[in-house]
Amino acid sequence: MASSLAKKVLVLGATGELGGALLRVALRPEFRNLQLTGTYCQRPMQDFLFLDLENPASIERAFSTTQPQISVLCSALTAVDYCEVHPKEARQVNVKGVESVLESCRRHGTVPVYLSTEYVFDGKSGPYREEDPPHPISVYGCTKWEAEQQVLREPEGLVVRTTVLYSYNPNSKTFLMQLLRNLTQSKKMPVPNDQFSHPTYTPDLAGIILELIGRKKSGLYHLVGPDYVPRSEFAFRIARIFGLDPALIVPKSTQEMGQKAPRPLQAGLVTEKVVRELGRPLVGIEEGLRCVEKGWRENSKALG
Ligand SMILES: NC(=O)c1ccc[n+]([C@@H]2O[C@H](COP(=O)([O-])OP(=O)(O)OC[C@H]3O[C@@H](n4cnc5c(N)ncnc54)[C@H](OP(=O)(O)O)[C@@H]3O)[C@@H](O)[C@H]2O)c1
Repeated sequence: MASSLAKKVLVLGATGELGGALLRVALRPEFRNLQLTGTYCQRPMQDFLFLDLENPASIERAFSTTQPQISVLCSALTAVDYCEVHPKEARQVNVKGVESVLESCRRHGTVPVYLSTEYVFDGKSGPYREEDPPHPISVYGCTKWEAEQQVLREPEGLVVRTTVLYSYNPNSKTFLMQLLRNLTQSKKMPVPNDQFSHPTYTPDLAGIILELIGRKKSGLYHLVGPDYVPRSEFAFRIARIFGLDPALIVPKSTQEMGQKAPRPLQAGLVTEKVVRELGRPLVGIEEGLRCVEKGWRENSKALG
């Protein structure tokens, strides 16, 4: 039970992969001084507040209701290819929406914590450090970079860049869950073999974000897992740990994949800053996937 001195945290986009993990991880005893409330947009959930980034009145209502000291912005249009073909909508939600949230933050004295991505880089020479100059090559990347700059202009604003989140979450569209759905149904899945990145175990990321909040950190942080692998390698590691057929994974070049938005190929983020300040790295693929597999097995048993 949260104490009356607990800090109120409003998690925007709590129906998503990371927002949901933040609410679950915050139940751990070490975070009892944080009291989290979540928002939804299209997928209503009990006890969550409605908030649409395209509707400033709904944002202000959620802030007035909760009076949060901190707001974590996980809500966004996150489908990279969808953003590429709907640039106006992407800007409206991912940039204008963040502007509206920041207005409410100022009105209520709320510290904004914003989730960004390695897609702010062009992927020509990653992994990148916090001080490297961004150069996004997709609409999604451009909108995220614009929004993160706005957040960093706020006196106590915190921006966390991350990538390739994974956890066991049947409601999620992460790469891992898409791969599990395909492979368990014996469907082939094309996977890029030239997009390098750092898979990041979502509950671990959520815990570190809450820790940064607890330590009142501000500025820019890169938070990703320690392993730097092409997406196809990540897929083969998943298949091995889950005992699924690796022959269903079809490695392809990004050019052959024909994705609508350009991808940063040699992306990746250097995490030295957070490791130095918190004294530990994020968990690696092997450990993260073992946790995911456990959740998956328990869920399969429960479903009979
Ligand atoms: N997943 C990754 O690998 C990854 C990598 C790098 C950065 N990030 C960043 O991390 C953050 C969280 O990502 P995620 O994977 O958790 O996202 P996600 O699973 O795609 O969830 C997106 C969330 O945003 C909400 N949302 C969508 N449109 C909205 C709107 N117009 N107004 C208000 N809320 C809206 C959704 O609510 P409903 O479902 O209720 O509509 C959902 O809760 C995002 O900012 C993303 O850019 C994610």
